[in-house]
Amino acid sequence: MAETRPVTIIGITIMGYRVAVVGATGAVGREILKTLAERDFPIKDIVALASPRSTGTEISFGEKTVLKVQNLEKFDFAGWDIGLFSPGAAVSAVHAPRAAAAGCIVIDNTSQFRMDPDVPLVVPEVNPQALGRIRRGIVANPNCSTIQMVVALKPLHDRFKIRRVVVATYQSVSGAGKDGMDELLLQTRRSLVHDQIVPQEFTKQIAFNCIPHIDKFMEDGSTKEEWKMTVETRKILDPDIKLIATCVRVPVFIGHSEAINVEFENPVTVAEARAVLRDAPGVRVIDKREDGGFITQLECQGEDDVYVSRIRRDPTVPHGIGFWCVADNLRKGAALNAVQIAETLIAQGLLARQAA
Ligand SMILES: NC(=O)c1ccc[n+]([C@@H]2O[C@H](COP(=O)([O-])OP(=O)(O)OC[C@H]3O[C@@H](n4cnc5c(N)ncnc54)[C@H](OP(=O)(O)O)[C@@H]3O)[C@@H](O)[C@H]2O)c1
Repeated sequence: MAETRPVTIIGITIMGYRVAVVGATGAVGREILKTLAERDFPIKDIVALASPRSTGTEISFGEKTVLKVQNLEKFDFAGWDIGLFSPGAAVSAVHAPRAAAAGCIVIDNTSQFRMDPDVPLVVPEVNPQALGRIRRGIVANPNCSTIQMVVALKPLHDRFKIRRVVVATYQSVSGAGKDGMDELLLQTRRSLVHDQIVPQEFTKQIAFNCIPHIDKFMEDGSTKEEWKMTVETRKILDPDIKLIATCVRVPVFIGHSEAINVEFENPVTVAEARAVLRDAPGVRVIDKREDGGFITQLECQGEDDVYVSRIRRDPTVPHGIGFWCVADNLRKGAALNAVQIAETLIAQGLLARQAA
């Protein structure tokens, strides 16, 4: 059995789970560890796993615990209850089914299993009922830009029925992981002293620039990130929703913004839409029609909620509204949503093992 450090919750070890964090040294993995600690997730044992490159390095969990990173390839998942995965799609493709076969429920942040009909794609505020059909032992976390959008769309869809969505995203570099963040920092420094810039993570210079290209190009001219927003929204919310996205990488470290226009089947007023969003779980409306009466990426960092601002009528369609939507892509867009899925599984009694 691989080395683990027991973690004591509330003084003594009581009802707790054995949790493996896979990709623990990455942007999402670190946020998962932080989120688990902050939310007092009921943990009995916790292990941090990554590639052989970081085996043996140390990583903090909460205020007092330091975990020694272990090699995913050599790790035996037998006896572990939950695997929170974010090691990239190709790595999850190999190790998530291996973990699931050993009886460990996998919550996977990568794109690998999202469109698999036997894998639920879940945002707890939107479709927790999908967790009733976990056939492969794997639950998928949606793409970060999809998660924040569907949290805001769900209550509007329930009330006014969405026909069509047009969305443009303004996505931070942390969406491309720790290497994306390093590239923005390096290029910003270099451009200020007029040094040469050679893009590596992004296909053009990202410092002082916006790049309408995230993930690979598809045959129809859209990018895979844009395609993901369409197909994931249909899988999570409603297969009849029509959606077109333009996804843009912007020189911001953390937080994604989205300009969203929605056409409904039923009449809607701005006041009604605002009231529905104000009552929606996971949504906070900050919308004063004055200077600074809206939220931006910088202000949402480290926050759990999906923020909505700039709600207004879309006069180009019979029943339409437009709004601005902002969230921390590493929190609600990844780590927090994954931990909320685990919490929902526990609340629904869907985690078979409850270690004492
Ligand atoms: N960033 C976001 O906002 C976001 C949101 C939703 C979903 N996601 C998805 O989550 C995944 C990770 O994203 P990230 O932003 O955290 O990336 P990242 O910062 O590059 O971190 C990648 C993590 O995966 C580990 N890893 C890489 N190759 C591995 C291997 N062969 N075996 C074991 N571990 C390996 C890395 O370990 P080493 O340190 O040892 O290399 C690191 O811990 C991606 O699939 C991404 O699409 C990201």
